[in-house]
Amino acid sequence: MGGLDRTVGQSNLRVVTETGWLSTLAVDTPDKLAERLGEHAYLADEGLATACFLALRMHRPLFLEGEAGVGKTSLATALADVLDAPLIRLQCYEGLDATQALYDWDFPRQLLHLRAAEAAGVTDVQRIEAELYDRRFLVARPLLQALETTPSVLLIDEVDRADDEFEAFLLEVLSDFTISVPELGTIRAEVPPVVVVTSNRTREVHDALKRRCLYHWLEHPSFEREVAIIGRRLPDATQRLAEQVARAAQALRAEDLLKPPGVAESLDWTEALVALGARELDPDLAAVTLGAVLKYREDQERARGRGLAAFVGPDGG
Ligand SMILES: Nc1ncnc2c1ncn2[C@@H]1O[C@H](COP(=O)(O)OP(=O)(O)OP(=O)(O)O)[C@@H](O)[C@H]1O
Ligand SMILES: [Mg+2]
Repeated sequence: MGGLDRTVGQSNLRVVTETGWLSTLAVDTPDKLAERLGEHAYLADEGLATACFLALRMHRPLFLEGEAGVGKTSLATALADVLDAPLIRLQCYEGLDATQALYDWDFPRQLLHLRAAEAAGVTDVQRIEAELYDRRFLVARPLLQALETTPSVLLIDEVDRADDEFEAFLLEVLSDFTISVPELGTIRAEVPPVVVVTSNRTREVHDALKRRCLYHWLEHPSFEREVAIIGRRLPDATQRLAEQVARAAQALRAEDLLKPPGVAESLDWTEALVALGARELDPDLAAVTLGAVLKYREDQERARGRGLAAFVGPDGG
């Protein structure tokens, strides 16, 4: 017990360190990475593909900030698919603490072990104590799981929802990819996981954390990209419908709404329209399906007040 320095992920370690993430995939440019992401139905623009490429190349966490529904979380999923690595997700929330994010001791199992030792008449207290803090009684939470899984993609989702204290220990983990467990020693990942940190910017994340990452602000997609995303994700939608929804979504984003629609809403809207058998969008159809794209009463009233034809009329389509 104590002072134990365990390096994990030995088996795949050599492969990854010698060749790097990207060369194992034969990806030597951002364009090629974008192509690979595209094979998994994620369409990244040049800026995002470059940020991702560099994060992999430089072994740095990627910090993605952007409005809701622009594709932050799904980028991590797509990266895991591309790398054929498990996605380990830590969803952040207020009050998230180390026992939820790093590790926890499995108290009931420790107690059982103690009882069993007592029943067996073991009297060596030191030995029992040492056994109680064995790795097998440690429950790995996402951050520890990611250090112990090589290769892996670690998604730290919506970090802005967690508190400052959480950021402080995240900083520690992301600095040297080690976690020290007082009773056990230091656990170190020789090959750091690929890390994606996302934030909706409900509050500013500390500079110290950002400094360790490469930063990318994810914008809503261009019209052409959004049409392509809809086409890729919902092949049953007609090209015309995809174009009309994308154009309407772009127009709605230009309004002063409480919650402008993201790609997620464009996809929901299209899916709803396809479910109704629609091949194209008109103001009447928009009126009855508005709940798929605008989810605040005030936003719906505003859009209706402007006249839905302004978004989906002949000019809009
Ligand atoms: N570039 C893209 N290519 C393909 N699909 C995309 C893209 N961007 C977004 N999507 C799709 O849009 C939906 C919303 O994306 P996602 O959940 O990743 O957004 P988010 O930025 O994490 O949103 P939130 O802030 O609400 O969590 C998903 O279904 C995702 O697959
Ligand atoms: Mg998300």
